[in-house]
Amino acid sequence: MTRRGFLRWALGAAGAALGVQGAVGFWSFFKPWIHPGAFGSKVSAGQVAEFDPGTVTHVPQGRFYISRLEDAGVLALWHRCTHLGCTVPWREDEARFRCPCHSSIFNEKGEVLGGPAPRPLDIFPIEIVDGEILVDTSSPIERDRFEPSQATQV
Ligand code: FES
Repeated sequence: MTRRGFLRWALGAAGAALGVQGAVGFWSFFKPWIHPGAFGSKVSAGQVAEFDPGTVTHVPQGRFYISRLEDAGVLALWHRCTHLGCTVPWREDEARFRCPCHSSIFNEKGEVLGGPAPRPLDIFPIEIVDGEILVDTSSPIERDRFEPSQATQV
């Protein structure tokens, strides 16, 4: 094989590898829309009756918590910290969220109680159909503070 022939072959192979890599990236990016029920689409959290007032329940496939407030309102809180994006666990023993990265603390409404987080946890729109809680994880909503109108009444 001549040097020119080898260079043509190597350039073609590199181009094909780039094309495959781009196709894999494209597929990964649009995967949530291809699989309804996964993060990035509408996710079923279950029946309203499964959530007692005053409880916080993680829904991992949707990356959110269902927070059923004492006054019967429901919030879907994104489990992503508003500081630098760490996943925030709910601490049942403390009845609050505590971020493991830089110690931001949030209450059951997602309000900041301490730490560097600049705003409350983001929420997702909720729709209740035949008693089922459907959470639209494609549209996170940023908030400056908690307002009772953010909770969906059940
Ligand atoms: S990422 Fe949560 S406090 Fe920094």
